[in-house]
Amino acid sequence: MLKVGFVGWRGMVGSVLMERMQSENNFQGIEPFFFTTSQVGQQGPDVGSGSQPLVDAKDIKKLAEMDIIMSCQGGKYTSAVYPELRKNWNGFWIDAASTLRMAEDSIIVLDPVNRKVIDQGLRDGIKNYIGGNCTVSLMLMALGGLFQENLIEWVSSMTYQAASGAGAGNMRELISQMGALEKEVAELLADPASAILEIDRKITAKLNDGSLPLENWGVPLAASLIPWIDIPVENGQTREEWKGFVETNKILGNRGARDIPIDGQCVRIGAMRCHSQAFTIKLKKDISVGEVENILTNHNQWVQVIANEREITSRELTPANASGTLTIPIGRIRKMNIGPRYLTAFTVGDQLLWGAAEPVRRILMIIRS
Ligand code: HSE
Repeated sequence: MLKVGFVGWRGMVGSVLMERMQSENNFQGIEPFFFTTSQVGQQGPDVGSGSQPLVDAKDIKKLAEMDIIMSCQGGKYTSAVYPELRKNWNGFWIDAASTLRMAEDSIIVLDPVNRKVIDQGLRDGIKNYIGGNCTVSLMLMALGGLFQENLIEWVSSMTYQAASGAGAGNMRELISQMGALEKEVAELLADPASAILEIDRKITAKLNDGSLPLENWGVPLAASLIPWIDIPVENGQTREEWKGFVETNKILGNRGARDIPIDGQCVRIGAMRCHSQAFTIKLKKDISVGEVENILTNHNQWVQVIANEREITSRELTPANASGTLTIPIGRIRKMNIGPRYLTAFTVGDQLLWGAAEPVRRILMIIRS
């Protein structure tokens, strides 16, 4: 049986991965080993074959005994351990972190979109399989059909990204900020005769007086937004925006001259774990909205076209509805009045599932099979 070492399985992405693996019976047929960066020797989880002591995640010798390592521990761990491990180890490294994504000897995995690229990588002996950036994976799951049919000349994606993308502490702080704001005006809210502008004045004062919990975000996110994600790169882009172009084209197996231009602005909003994106797409040819909807629907079993109608859109094309599910709703699909080849659409997806844990879970199953 393949020995699979799990690192970072207790964190947010790792916990979602564990849940998904258990509900899909994925621990059958593998021999799991649970590594830890802080609790060596303590009992590990029982995923069906009894509990074993946790193994030191910095122990290169122990790591090298694995056939496959699955890391959800984050980029710092990958940078600290992977180069040393790789010197004398030929196993598969599966990783949710971005560190190795753009390396020549790695494949970014999203098998409903790039199974051919993955299979070619396996035939070529590639040993590093890395999950993509969440907005990129969610965009490709939604628009996969249009990419597959080579109908996209360029895309602009404007994102509305959830707190979970920044980490568990950030999610908690968002809720604390919301709670502090509510508390600030609770008495006024309870009085139906109070003036809304008085409530707003107090909320605005609270947002700006520095007393909200700000340790993680640095600024208020509740009742506001942050139009900046990750560090600056070149040309005024953020790293999150830069990834949209480079990772999408790498996932699709495009190289250089065939790259599809992709750009946009990435914005943090106060959703919990679902990222949303609004697309402007220039099509290579003028096809009808009905054809677009068919192409999108037929691409994979998770994408779900939502009719461009108020009631169903408000109910189903939302983070509240998509959270905790593998469904990728896409709606607001229409031609723009800019011209017949300009299409707009809006999509939502769980950034911890298709945006993080699901692609790496699935590559583990592909390698195992
Ligand atoms: N960079 C993403 C975000 C997280 O900040 O939302 C997952 O790729």
